[in-house]
Amino acid sequence: SFTPRVFSGIQPSGGLTLGNYLGAMKRFVEMQEAGEYETIYCIVDLHAITVWQDPAALTRNTRELCAGYIAAGIDPEKSVLFNQSQVAEHAQLAWIFNCVARMGWMQRMTQFKDKVGKNAQNASLGLFAYPALMAADILLYHATHVPVGEDQKQHVELTRDIAIKFNHDYKVDFFPVCEPVIEGAATRVMSLRDGSKKMSKSDPSDMSRINLTDDADTIARKIRKAKTDPEPLPEDPKGLEGRPEARNLVNIYAALADRTVEDVLAEIGGRQFSEFKPMLADLAVAKLGPISTEMARLMDDPAEIDRILTRGAERAREIAAPILRRTYDIVGM
Ligand code: ADP
Ligand code: NA
Repeated sequence: SFTPRVFSGIQPSGGLTLGNYLGAMKRFVEMQEAGEYETIYCIVDLHAITVWQDPAALTRNTRELCAGYIAAGIDPEKSVLFNQSQVAEHAQLAWIFNCVARMGWMQRMTQFKDKVGKNAQNASLGLFAYPALMAADILLYHATHVPVGEDQKQHVELTRDIAIKFNHDYKVDFFPVCEPVIEGAATRVMSLRDGSKKMSKSDPSDMSRINLTDDADTIARKIRKAKTDPEPLPEDPKGLEGRPEARNLVNIYAALADRTVEDVLAEIGGRQFSEFKPMLADLAVAKLGPISTEMARLMDDPAEIDRILTRGAERAREIAAPILRRTYDIVGM
């Protein structure tokens, strides 16, 4: 009974990585083009400030992420593309969900534990509450599908729990129970230096990740230096078991080529990394080069980016405001 609607977001917390592209943005574009959904994509700056952001950098990163979305194929006419803090309803609904979610649910979130390590006492309250804000982001649009990387699966499940509890507590059938969409060969892109850590813009080592703004030489160097093992590539996916670095590079190749891992290994199985790495570098440069060129071009006109975001926020609010008003009615406010 709910309109098929897609919502997802990315934090403007620094350069976009290949992980963001393959785990999220590429799927965002596919869902925009599928013609089956209304698509809403957000720059989630309220999430970014859960850890310290230099104000000038946050402004710049917000524009750069908008440019990244467009360069990767998000069309601000076909999709609603906007910045979270420009639609106040996100924070308003998040407060209500703070009162629906249970402490125990939040304490089970593995991303919070991974991010803060032993330093939980010094983490911001916002970082702890972040998944309730994410639930508000999604449910404020009655979104039914949420394309994300694997690291966000638990947060989408929490969103479902919040929708179910709200509907139950208030005896309504108001919020949809949304589905995560976690698809493709690279739903969890790992660090190039350590196959047990995810590739992230917050990793202190720049060699651990490919940034969408890296030039061709940098991409080739990072792939050449990527950690591997001494064995040749296997002929089929079973041979990747226990070889996280090899698996990661093959997943990246398959995702960039829009092929399955089986198909790729049938072709390259038996080759050494010395032969495979240049193939991967060429493919990455061919796919990412046009995106970074287009991002740079768009960044030359920040006023145009700001206009796109202002218009996007207006369109977002047209959907969000009535849903927040209904929510207030249901709660008795
Ligand atoms: P980051 O984790 O780089 O700070 P965000 O939290 O803003 O990025 O995540 C934006 C989207 O990118 C989410 O859907 C997330 O699941 C996806 N994503 C982030 N890192 C990876 C990765 N290494 N592999 C696959 N998807 C990822
Ligand atoms: Na993330």
